[in-house]
Order: sequence, then structure tokens, then C-alpha cells
Amino acid sequence: MAVETRIIHPDQLEQAVSLLRQGECVAFPTETVYGLGADALNAEAVAKIFAAKQRPADNPLIVHIHSREQVAGLVKGYGQSVEILMEQFWPGPLSLILPKGDIIPEIVSGGLDTVALRMPDHDLALKLLKKVDLPIAAPSANLSGSPSPTRAEHVYQDLNGRIPLILDGGPTGWGVESTVLDCTCWPFRVLRPGGVTVEQLQQFVPIEVDSSVTGNSAVEQPRSPGMKYKHYSPRADVILVVGNRVPEKINQLASQPQYADLNIGVLAPSEHADLYPNLTVLDLGPRSQPKIAASRLYHLLRTADQIRLDAVFVEGFAEEDVGLAIMNRLRRAAGYKVVQS
Ligand code: TXA
Ligand code: MG
Repeated sequence: MAVETRIIHPDQLEQAVSLLRQGECVAFPTETVYGLGADALNAEAVAKIFAAKQRPADNPLIVHIHSREQVAGLVKGYGQSVEILMEQFWPGPLSLILPKGDIIPEIVSGGLDTVALRMPDHDLALKLLKKVDLPIAAPSANLSGSPSPTRAEHVYQDLNGRIPLILDGGPTGWGVESTVLDCTCWPFRVLRPGGVTVEQLQQFVPIEVDSSVTGNSAVEQPRSPGMKYKHYSPRADVILVVGNRVPEKINQLASQPQYADLNIGVLAPSEHADLYPNLTVLDLGPRSQPKIAASRLYHLLRTADQIRLDAVFVEGFAEEDVGLAIMNRLRRAAGYKVVQS
């Protein structure tokens, strides 16, 4: 049953508010990526998110709030370390996994007894959340498996005809999703790296990084259900290349007979653009600024499909700060095809 998907601007916010209040789902921008929101306390509304995205039912959603006063009503309790993290990093790209309150329907948590909460650092998102004044469950607003949307047009590409409304707030800032931190174990554990870095978190609480974050293959039993699914993948084949001689290796691989009649691209820092005379170069920004690379990453993976590349090589990043999140997403986009140079 196709619906008409309308794109509205920030001054038409009221339309998004009333649809959310009626139990419909609406795409909206955050500082990380666009989310597909619905009333987190309404199981039927949340079911529409899973249907629109074709998301597996066991993959839990993050609940978005605008005020710390909402937290107590949604979870079973938390300690002082969690308070400190909320104080330091909210609003911001940090989702905290806490014991789930009974008020939250099982469909939100994929049957788990925990729930992830986050307060986005984005004026329009906060305005929407305040006006609706309901906790809003929202995964990234892409079809399950494809790169997360960092622009309203990406949401439209994936969900046109499947959702009633997209609130267009322009391109998002971070470009990679929030850090997901399990606060139900000790030390707290990073299940997905994101905008708030491990280095930043460690200044306030002891932190462990789940082995699935840097792992080189899909793990059998990840603690974050979302991590076992194919992710962030364009149609083009993605090949991640790491090591000390990356451009040489990429040129050598791309000149192999198997690529002879194909359209091949490379995601590379600006400084390396001239090193690939025979490939289509997609510019990740200056080498010294991985934050810019993060903000462009999903858009460039989608661009690779739009310009009909068959394969795209990607230069690896140092796994520190936001580079950890970038490499985590790239390994998955590449289906764990990582070539050492
Ligand atoms: O930046 C973001 O986090 C964006 C924006 C829209 O807020 N949202 C987002 O949601 O990326 P989603 O659903 O695409 O990713 C949520 C991730 C999934 O990997 C999911 O498995 C994990 O968080 N997650 C959510 N609740 C969890 C829980 N209770 N336990 C373990 N993992 C959980
Ligand atoms: Mg997602």
C-alpha cells in the first residue's frame, strides 16, 4: 500500500508533530543522520517503522528524548556514572543502554530488557521532540542494510512511497550514527563507535570496547543485535585497503583483468586525488580531518551507486577518535573485505 511521501521544511514542523501524535512515522534530521521516528509508547506506531525500513524485528530502536526529566519514566534506574555521562555528553551523539521500564513496548527493544536512550544535539530535532512531548523511537531512516541518510533526499531515495513525511533540515552534521554504550555492565561497553569517542568517554568512566567493533568478521553473537546484519552497503562492491602503501595497492588491484570492463572508483583524501589517474575519485576531504570524511562517507557511498560504479576502493583510516567509527562502518560496508598493503 503505497503512500504519498511529502517533504516539508522547518516552518511546517506542526505537520510532523501532528502525524507523530496520530501514531504515524516521520523522518527527521538529527546531528548524526536522519531518523525515522514514531511514538515509542505506541507499539502499532513503532511497527510501522519496522515495516517501512524492512528491519528485522530483533533489532532494537533508540528512543529519543528532549529532556533529562523524561529518563526516570522510561528506565528502571541508573547510577551516578550514567548521570555524569548525561551531564557531559547530552545533548549529543551518545546512546545509553539502560534497564528498560515496563512502559516501553517490547517491539522497541526487540524483546531485550534494556533500552537505548539519546538526546540529539540538533535544534530542529529538539524542537520537534519538545512539541510532540513523547519519547520518539527512531532508527536511521534508510532501508535496512543501505547507508544511513545524511540528507532528506537520501531518505526519499529509500523510503518514497513507504512513509508519509520527511522533515527536511538540510544535511546532518556528524554523518555517522551515535555511539552506543551499554551501561548495564561494568566497565561500560561501547557496542557501536560514533561521534562521542572512546577517548572522551574514558575521561569520565571506565570503558571497554566490544570485540565486534574492531573485529574483521561478522561475529556470531554480538551484544548489539544490529551488528550482525549487513550494513551501510551500496550496490557497488566496496574494497577497504589499509597499510603503508595504500594508493599503490589500489592502483595495482584496479588494473587487474577482473576490473577491466568495469567502472571503478576510489574514496580518498583530497591530497591523494591526483594519485588515481584511471579511477573516479570521490573526495573524503583533507587527510588531517577525519570528521569531514565522516560527514561525507554515506553520501559518497550513495553517490558511487548513482554514478553507477561497479566497485569502489576505500583508503583506510587510523582507528582513533572518529576514525574508529569510520573504520567500523567501512569494514561492514566492505563485507569485511579488507586488503593489507
Ligand atoms: O545516531 C543515531 O543513533 C541514529 C539517529 C537517528 O539517532 N539512530 C540510529 O539508529 O543509528 P539505528 O537503529 O540505525 O541503530 C541503533 C543501533 C543498532 O545497532 C541496535 O542494534 C543498537 O543500536 N541498539 C539499540 N538498542 C539496543 C539495546 N537495547 N541493546 C543493544 N543494542 C541496541
Ligand atoms: Mg541504522
